[in-house]
This record gives sequence, structure tokens and C-alpha cells, in this order.
Amino acid sequence: MKTVLSVVGARPQFVKAAPLSRRLRQDFREVLVHTGQHYDHGMSTAFFTELLIPEPDVNLGVGSAPHGEQTARMTEGLIGVIRETDPDLVLTYGDTNSTLAASLAALTTGVRLAHVEAGLRSFNRKMPEEVNRIAADHLSDLCLCPTATAVSNLEREGLADRARLTGDVMLDACLDAVERAGDEAVRRHGLTPGEYCFATVHRAENTDRTTRFLAILDGLGSIPLPIAFPVHPRTRAVLDKLEVELPENVTALPPTSYLETLSLAAHARKVITDSGGLQKEAYFLKVPCVTLREETEWTETVDAGWNVLVGADAKRIREAAFYWDPPEKAPDLSAYGGGQACDRIAAEIAKLLG
Ligand code: UD1
Repeated sequence: MKTVLSVVGARPQFVKAAPLSRRLRQDFREVLVHTGQHYDHGMSTAFFTELLIPEPDVNLGVGSAPHGEQTARMTEGLIGVIRETDPDLVLTYGDTNSTLAASLAALTTGVRLAHVEAGLRSFNRKMPEEVNRIAADHLSDLCLCPTATAVSNLEREGLADRARLTGDVMLDACLDAVERAGDEAVRRHGLTPGEYCFATVHRAENTDRTTRFLAILDGLGSIPLPIAFPVHPRTRAVLDKLEVELPENVTALPPTSYLETLSLAAHARKVITDSGGLQKEAYFLKVPCVTLREETEWTETVDAGWNVLVGADAKRIREAAFYWDPPEKAPDLSAYGGGQACDRIAAEIAKLLG
């Protein structure tokens, strides 16, 4: 049996690994490595427990550090694990520093690399995620693309030969979990379905630029609806540093688990976010999304009329959250592989490894 060494480290990667790890283990031996990029219980262990992800074989425990240092520590650790376990393939997910480290470690050890969620582009190189995903794609032998747009992006960069359209593992994960998520979290937080917004803000470009961050809080405060607002540790640190109070209609929650996130998103009037994953989850759940960025990798959601980009503009946030309605045409889940991504990825890996 061939060995696939999968690398995860940050919250969205746990969600993606949940259905794929299960599927891969039918055909391959999997070595699961956690870099330790996310380490708080609510950011890491809670996801493994809730999504029944197998215990990682190795946890490198690198923790937080400036990007370059964090990536260097992870890369060094991963090189050691690859040398010890001698896999046939390294599998890397998404666009975090853990993604980049896995790609560099595969390059150094000469092991083939596959990238899940390949080909996405925001065309904003100021985001570390954009640089991470470009590097991962260019170092990969197999680029597993969630959408046709992602395939076209790779074609433009001369990577057509390694690009495969597989669909999005996040749709597989969402379809798997949505019933289990139910509406328990909505009731527990005292919210009424359809009469609140679900908001998250964690991107460095929003949290670390004070004018943008305060404008977003102003925008949230001007929406005449209650807002459930799970707070990422990075955002918590900024709130504490600036000593600002959240607006009265905004209720801070600790980071929410995957099922709690799906539950709160599914029943919201609008999702308001700068997260990539949550923009798509809103689309999968047929909830209109207000995105706190100037551009997005998930252009299909915008083209379909279910996602609007409002940046950090308080007035546009209020208008989109309260007055804008999505089109009647339901979201098209076939554009994301219809829930078949894990099977297609397993088949592509089997083909590559022969
Ligand atoms: C990372 C990803 C981002 C992804 C996000 C999901 C990169 C460059 N970015 O951003 O693409 O959307 O994960 O959450 O990899 N912290 C804790 N506890 C934790 C983890 C982090 O307190 O368990 C704090 C630390 O102060 C840390 C900060 O959060 O410095 C940022 O964490 P980091 O992993 O560097 O990036 P994220 O903002 O989480």
C-alpha cells in the first residue's frame, strides 16, 4: 500500500482533512502530521474530536511566531518526519504557512507533492495566503482544483499539465455535517433564525490596520439586528490592545467549532466575513454573504449574486447586511463538485502513484 503523508496545521485544514482523510484511508496508508500552527483547544483539538479526525501521528507543536520563523520551524520538523516515514506523496491543503512548509519540505526531500485547493488566486500579493498558494502550486506534481476558475488560473501560469478539476472538499465536509449541526447553537445563543447576522473578522489586513478594523466595527454596530461574532485569538488581541468595546448589538463568542459555525451560519439572515471558507459555506447553505474584502478567490459566489464585496466600508456593510437581497436562483453546487471531491482526489492520487 502506498503512503500519503498529509500535513495540517490550521483550523480550515482540519475541516478539509476530515472527509478526505477518511476517504484516503480506504486506499492508502496515511501518516497525518499536525504542525501545531493552531494549538488552542477551540482552534485545534475541538475540531479533531467533533469531526472524528484520526489522532495525528505526529504533532510538531511549533506554535505562533512571525511568518518566516514559523514556516522555517515547520519545514525543518516536516523534513525530519518525511525522512523517517518515507512516504510516496506529501499532501498539503489550502494556503496557510503550514501549506508552504509542507511544500518546501517535499521539495527538499524529493518526495512528490499534491496540493488540495489548488489554483485559487485573489491577485493580491500583499496577503501571505496568496504567496503561500502560488508557491504550493508551483512546487506541486498534482494540483487538485476545487473549481473551473482555479483550473484556468493554473493554465495561465503554465501549469495546465498538473491541474485536475476535482471539486471542493469543503462542500463534501459541509454536506456531511449540516444535518448534524442542526439549530441547537442558534437556540443556545438566544437567537431567532433569520433575524440575526453571523460575523467573523480575522484577516491580518483587517485586524492589523486600525482604521479598517474600526470601520468594520462601526459597520457591524450600524446594522439593526443582533450579531453573533466568534472572536479569533488574533482579533481578541487587537480588541484588547485598542481597548475598544464592541457595539451593543454585537455579541462576542469564543471561537466556534465547525458544527456550531455551520449551525449559526445556516440560520443567519446574512453571513458577514473576511474568511475564505465561510464565504463558500454561506453559499453552500444558501445564505447571502457580505465579504469584508476588496477581492475574493471564490469569484463564482459573487458572479452568482450570492456574495458581495464591501471592503471595510461601514456604510456598504450596513446596506449589504440589511437591505440587499440575493437572487431567486439558488446557488449552483455543481460548480464545487457536488460533494464528490474526496472520491475524485483519491482517484487522481492513485493514478499519480501508479
Ligand atoms: C491562519 C492562516 C489563514 C487562515 C487562518 C484560519 C496563515 C498565513 N494564515 O491565520 O489563512 O484563514 O489561519 O484561522 O497561515 N493564536 C492563538 N491560538 C491559536 C492560534 C493562533 O492564540 O491556536 C494567535 C496567536 O497570537 C497568533 C495569531 O493568533 O500569532 C495568528 O495565528 P496564525 O496561525 O499566525 O495565523 P491566523 O491569523 O490564524
